[in-house]
Amino acid sequence: MKILFIHGPNLNMLGNRETALYGDKTLAEIDSMVTKRAQELGVEVLTFQSNSEGALIDFLQAECPKADAIIINPGALTHYSYSLRDALVDSALPVIEVHLSNIYAREEWRHKSVIAPIATGQISGLGWQGYVAALEILAAEKAE
Ligand code: DQA
Repeated sequence: MKILFIHGPNLNMLGNRETALYGDKTLAEIDSMVTKRAQELGVEVLTFQSNSEGALIDFLQAECPKADAIIINPGALTHYSYSLRDALVDSALPVIEVHLSNIYAREEWRHKSVIAPIATGQISGLGWQGYVAALEILAAEKAE
C-alpha cells in the first residue's frame, strides 16, 4: 500500500509558525514520525510539501496513478481551492483531510473546507497525531 502524504502552503514553517496552534515539531520531524509508523504498518509513504497550488496539483496528477490513498493538510487552500479539490476528485483515491489545529474553534472563514465534502473524512485539532491516526485508519482499512 502506498500513501501520498501531502502538505500545503506554509506548513514548511512548522516548528517556527504559531506553535501554540500548530505545535513545536518541524515538518521534517512529523514526516519522519509518520514514515516510521508507516514502516511498522508495512505501508509506503511518499511525502510532499509545496507553497504552490499548481505544484501540489502537478504532484497529484503524477503520483496518484501509482498510489492507494491520500493524507493531505491543504493549509489555507482548504478554505478556497476548487482546483485542488478537483485534482483530489480526479485521483479517485480515498482522501483524509488533516488539520493540526481545530479549524472550527478559530476564525469563521476557517470553518469552511471546500475539500471536506469530497474527502472520506477529516481530522482536525489533534496536532501531528492526527496524521498518525489517518495513517492507521487507512492501513487498517486496507488490511480488512
Ligand atoms: C491548518 C489550518 C488552516 O486554516 C491554516 O491555513 C493552515 C494550517 C491546520 O493544520 O490547522 O495553514 O491547515
